[in-house]
Amino acid sequence: MLLVLEPCGFWRNMFRAAWAQQMTEISRRKTDHLRIVAEGRGQQSGLTTGFDAVRFAHVALPEVDYDQLDCGTQFLGRQLDAPLLVSAMTGGNDEAERINAHIAEACAELRIGLAVGSQRIAVETGDAGGLGRQLRARAPDIPILGNIGAVQLNYGFGLPEAQRTVDMIEADALILHLNPLQEAIQQGGDRNFAALLLRIEALAASLPVPLGVKEVGAGLSAQVARRLLDAGVTILDVAGAGGTSWARVEAERGPARLQALAAPFHDWGIPTADALRAAAPLMGAGKVLIGSGGVRHGLDVARAIRLGADLVGQAARALPAARHSAEALVQHFSDVVTQLRIAMFCTGSRDLAALRRAALLQPMPGGIWSQAAGVSSDDFDA
Ligand SMILES: Cc1cc2nc3c(=O)[nH]c(=O)nc-3n(C[C@H](O)[C@H](O)[C@H](O)COP(=O)(O)O)c2cc1C
Repeated sequence: MLLVLEPCGFWRNMFRAAWAQQMTEISRRKTDHLRIVAEGRGQQSGLTTGFDAVRFAHVALPEVDYDQLDCGTQFLGRQLDAPLLVSAMTGGNDEAERINAHIAEACAELRIGLAVGSQRIAVETGDAGGLGRQLRARAPDIPILGNIGAVQLNYGFGLPEAQRTVDMIEADALILHLNPLQEAIQQGGDRNFAALLLRIEALAASLPVPLGVKEVGAGLSAQVARRLLDAGVTILDVAGAGGTSWARVEAERGPARLQALAAPFHDWGIPTADALRAAAPLMGAGKVLIGSGGVRHGLDVARAIRLGADLVGQAARALPAARHSAEALVQHFSDVVTQLRIAMFCTGSRDLAALRRAALLQPMPGGIWSQAAGVSSDDFDA
């Protein structure tokens, strides 16, 4: 009897030790990501979001009262004071609990959306790392989005695990992230993305809350967006290029050979503005488009809304404040909202629907910006 049990126990212990080591490695990786991004070493440099090419036509006679501007919106049945979302960042590392508490408190005060970082470690270890019920208790009235890697559906995750991610934070929706570039470059990355769409479709059909899909900084193409929408996904976050580069972030953690290997991909991806332009016409009733990836300030938020986003997310540029305190994050996003309101005011847009129709200047040969085809007929009414 002993002879049979001994090897089983041995292999069980070996398996547990390997699993614990893997969880520790994931946690260490997440800590590295936070540090590298917070130090500004993860940004794309040779490619932009394309937002600077979106120029609003200035309206010198806005005919709106700045104090009456309404930048509120609805998301997942909840009212937001601004169309903003803290993009997925933290989950499952030592610093996560503190940062998640700051983010939840700030989002509750500002009444904006909160997307948590990957809950994989929390699901696999049961250690929530700030992603437990206390998160919802801190932010009872705002939309909270759960998060796991879509590729985990090819590595043993299914409906029960997805449901656990939702339950542990009482999430209003679950977002799956697509990160093939990151997994390809990361040492030991999960690279089996085969037939993933079928699994996403099955999850969308069985999960009781809406299912969303996001990229992580390389953008969703029109073709991918269409396939995801056809599969039953109702929230798309383009998370385009021009901001955080995962080729850069992963390279920063690796040895010299990996750094050289990743270098050509530092500026890989579909710029955010382009991804938004491509996805916006595909979104039908009940679908939500989130614009994110390299969003710098409230003018970029206004530009993303103008290109068709319903909500706008920011990760890297909110991280230093999120690490510092809830108050710092409130201040950061208050300034973003003020910039959005200035853009609304100077385009004569009393609400987000009007901002979506605001006139744009058109680029002309010679680097000139012209109102030739950009001024709406309203401006000539008088
Ligand atoms: C430190 C850090 C950790 C991140 N972790 C996740 C994650 O766990 N899940 C996810 O979907 N996206 C994650 N992201 C990606 C962001 O949600 C976002 O899509 C991406 O950073 C692009 O936005 P940005 O240019 O504003 O940073 C992370 C980003 C950062 C900066």
